[in-house]
Amino acid sequence: MTSFSNAVPRIVVVGSVNIDIVLSVAALPLPNETVLGRGSKTVVGGKGLNQAVAAARLGAETYMVAAIGDDAFGDAARAHLVAQGVDASHVTMVAGMATGTAHILVADDASNSIVVTPGANAALTPAMVEDAADLIAGADAVVVQLEVPLPTVRAALEIARRHGVRTILNPAPSDKAALALLPLADLVTPNETELASLTGIDGTNDAALHAALHDLTQHGAREVIVTLGPRGSATLVEGTLVFEPALRIKAVDTTGAGDVFNAALACELARGLSLLRAMAFASAASAISVSRASADAAPTRDEVEAMLAHAGDRP
Ligand code: RIB
Repeated sequence: MTSFSNAVPRIVVVGSVNIDIVLSVAALPLPNETVLGRGSKTVVGGKGLNQAVAAARLGAETYMVAAIGDDAFGDAARAHLVAQGVDASHVTMVAGMATGTAHILVADDASNSIVVTPGANAALTPAMVEDAADLIAGADAVVVQLEVPLPTVRAALEIARRHGVRTILNPAPSDKAALALLPLADLVTPNETELASLTGIDGTNDAALHAALHDLTQHGAREVIVTLGPRGSATLVEGTLVFEPALRIKAVDTTGAGDVFNAALACELARGLSLLRAMAFASAASAISVSRASADAAPTRDEVEAMLAHAGDRP
């Protein structure tokens, strides 16, 4: 039986901070098409920041290693992290650079498309991660994504691995060069698009998913979970494809759902839950976020537990 602890997990997120400029549209425009938007809003985002905020809301002691620009957006992002209970002492303000931005279109069917301009995220160096080595060494899990330079991601994974700290690599946005990092990852969490682009294996039928997940383990990842939107998520357990179905909700905005999923996985695995139980919890957490507008929609632990109790599937 898996033992788990009620101790507060300590999570370090190394990754991106963006300001999201979100436009609502009826449907995503086709190439060469112009559409009228319904409205816009500016919120804090970035896969790294979203993951850190979600982990903090889920009750983890959370630290962020990131770079922001010396502009009002950077100030706003740092203030948001602190207000959400994330330790931002390793968030470096880079002189002369702009904070990263993301232009996000959200359509009525809750789908989105995102263009990220890295800005200061590109200036997050391995040396900045080395400065946080003690923090990483004392963590229960380190979470990284790919909106910051790969050598920086590698540095975080190497420090964590050296100290036996669990590593979660969210390969988003997809970059085939990240395949070289998989031997340093305890868990890799692509979505279906990223999985196809990393492996070259298209298709979401069981055989294709099985082959693609297996392919990433052959590249060195210890475990792989693919997120499948409304279909939930899937992993390989002793070579067999196992699905965790998504909870039924009315989808409003899928932006950041993967970030919440990753943060929840990190928290629950750090508490000692099995992979499948952590997936069930993460699935509920991301379902709640999808039912709310904007990337800044992570639920609290109480909200996730209430949803799981309601679904009769409490871990
Ligand atoms: O995963 C959602 C995030 O992707 C957004 O917040 C945006 O900033 C991009 O990084």
